[in-house]
Amino acid sequence: MMTKTRRAGITAIGAYAPSKVLSNDDLSKFMDTSDEWISTRTGIRRRHVAADDEFTADLAVSAIKDMQRRYGEAVLEGVDMVIVATNTPDAYFPSTAAMVQDYFGLKAGAFDLLAACPGWVYALSVAQAYVESGICKKVLAIGAEALTKIIDWNDRSTAVLFGDGAGATLVEAVEEPFGIKSMILGADGAGGKHLHAKAVGKCLLDGTKLGEHVYMNGSEVFKFAVRVMKTSTVEAIEQAGLKTEDISLFVPHQANLRIINAARERLELAEDKVVVTVDEYGNNSTASIPLALCHALDGGRIHAGDNLLLVSFGAGLTWAASVLTWGGGKK
Ligand code: COA
Repeated sequence: MMTKTRRAGITAIGAYAPSKVLSNDDLSKFMDTSDEWISTRTGIRRRHVAADDEFTADLAVSAIKDMQRRYGEAVLEGVDMVIVATNTPDAYFPSTAAMVQDYFGLKAGAFDLLAACPGWVYALSVAQAYVESGICKKVLAIGAEALTKIIDWNDRSTAVLFGDGAGATLVEAVEEPFGIKSMILGADGAGGKHLHAKAVGKCLLDGTKLGEHVYMNGSEVFKFAVRVMKTSTVEAIEQAGLKTEDISLFVPHQANLRIINAARERLELAEDKVVVTVDEYGNNSTASIPLALCHALDGGRIHAGDNLLLVSFGAGLTWAASVLTWGGGKK
């Protein structure tokens, strides 16, 4: 007798971006930069910034409330695990996920996951493993970020790039042909020196000193990003048993429009097959892909049965790519 394999998929989604917005012109009032420099080098025009009293757990809660608004309050019934991917937890402990679990009164396990910008895709992979193995039935995989709290507002080379936000997804078993079809996860810790932010340590294992704020070697990260966006997406499409022409929509990490365009061109995808939100949000790390997915849904660009290609990269250095067939198409 053939055993039917359980496949996990995203069945609900929600997102949130803080109401406070800083345009490039706003930044140029207190920093030696310009709209012209930022928009031509990155494609970023605005970024949403958490209020002084708004932190990662608040953003995660707001994204889940958006999910409830779209799908009804009962959408959270039976959630048995909460994973928050974040680089900016409110506290080392308790986890942001535990705060979210308590806020919604969920009878669930909870933990945070740290994998830099690809964190939400990593969380999706963990949720997939839990659901497909039968360990959990309904997993909240959230990406939430208050990055503007840790950047150095005196460093124009990093401060202009980042923003805040959150995206929440519900992962559970779905019927064929829907669900997650491939998952590619990778890391190259030798590149840790190119992008880092301090916690309790003083330096990386290779001796790289950790400063007080986010440090980035932009050109090294740029080259790495363009390379892994191509290699990991090709692997993800292949692992899914598909061809590039089967991809309905490309939803990449929103860090830089030039990186997105380079990846799109290398994959030979048409411009209308790519979701771009970096102009509005800047790079909000783990929140960027679920937020972009929500935008695409709201714009009527995602339908049940569509094959979505997701890819992210970031500090570590790390990367993650996945192909999934969208089933949770309703709002
Ligand atoms: N406004 C104006 N000038 C700026 C600036 C700013 N905000 N930031 C840097 N500059 C200056 C630099 O000081 C430099 O001046 P110099 O030539 O006099 O020394 C000049 O602009 C060029 O900087 P450069 O680093 O060569 O620009 P770039 O074309 O490589 O673009 C990045 C810089 C950061 C936009 C680009 O490297 C990048 O996007 N990298 C990837 C970053 C990323 O994705 N990070 C997130 C990973 S999750």
